[in-house]
Amino acid sequence: MGKRIGILTSGGDCPGLNMVIRTVVSHATLSYDWEVVGIPYATKGLLERKAITLSLHGLDLHGIDPLLCMGGTILGSTNKGDTLAQAKQIFEGYQALELDALIAIGGDGSLAILRELASQGNWNLVAIPKTIDNDVALTERSVGFDTAVNTVTDALNRLTSTAASHDRVMVVEVMGRTAGHLALQAGIAGGADVILIPEIPYSLPKVCQKLKELRDKWKRKFALIIVAEGAKTETGEISCYTDSLGEVRLRGIGQYITEQIPACSPEGVETRLTILGHVQRGGMPSAWDRILAAAFGKTAIDLVAQEQFARMVAWRNGEVGSVPLELVISQSPSLVAPQSSLVQTARSLGIYVGES
Ligand code: F6P
Repeated sequence: MGKRIGILTSGGDCPGLNMVIRTVVSHATLSYDWEVVGIPYATKGLLERKAITLSLHGLDLHGIDPLLCMGGTILGSTNKGDTLAQAKQIFEGYQALELDALIAIGGDGSLAILRELASQGNWNLVAIPKTIDNDVALTERSVGFDTAVNTVTDALNRLTSTAASHDRVMVVEVMGRTAGHLALQAGIAGGADVILIPEIPYSLPKVCQKLKELRDKWKRKFALIIVAEGAKTETGEISCYTDSLGEVRLRGIGQYITEQIPACSPEGVETRLTILGHVQRGGMPSAWDRILAAAFGKTAIDLVAQEQFARMVAWRNGEVGSVPLELVISQSPSLVAPQSSLVQTARSLGIYVGES
């Protein structure tokens, strides 16, 4: 019997979401002859009982499929509101939309909420991990991360020429929440001299010693410092502020580092700060994010066909597979292991990555 599958995107957007949607529609239609409907704005769409029919033809524009390379999400997303308080109404919405299963694309926060809703309402849920932070547990890769690494790497490349032209120290603050994956990987790819991440304590004198070494030993008068938004001050404080909606946002560690550098550097060292912000979440998905999105979308539909629900598709050991969603939620976010081979790789390049 033909199924009616719902798909939604939840939490912060990232490049590659539309490619997941495209693959889900394509595989459901071509391989199973099922119907796929998009739920706009995640649980808000369920609450309001809204569903958009997604057809293969509808995804085309004169034979060109824009979903292949469009960033963001055509379904819209939200990460606000006390969703659990409205669990009953959301479940009624799921039922009213006559869905046989729901595919939810989200980060760990939204997947935890959706799993809770699904278990209360007994829905058939399959999850797909996405986040530029790459911190969802039990998957080595999440959709959106690779593109963000490329975006930050590109920014570092651009900052290098202006840093070199003015003999400046450029501090670049990047996203990642409590994880340093984005800062570490882009820092290696983009030629950073210092990488500061939440997982590894650092000392400012050592940062300045690195800058001195660049000047004295290598005759290089400019430097790049990449700092993850979740990195702490030397005394262990998180830099954040509360926005107008009462949400705590990470911001400020880049400013702190930028202000500290002149104090422990020779007179006249100029520092400048760039906060990349939401630029990191935009743009066309990289080839790898498109491939990952396609593998995840296909596997999610196959899980629905096999009636394997309450699972999250995952990338592990170079293969796509799936893991119980409950296990993912029960784990802490995946962080950079201080002794990981990538940290060692960064150090082998002469980059100061804290401690030692
Ligand atoms: O989790 C993704 C992320 O981009 C984080 O890196 C960042 O801290 C946060 O979302 C920003 O959230 P918002 O879009 O709500 O400002």
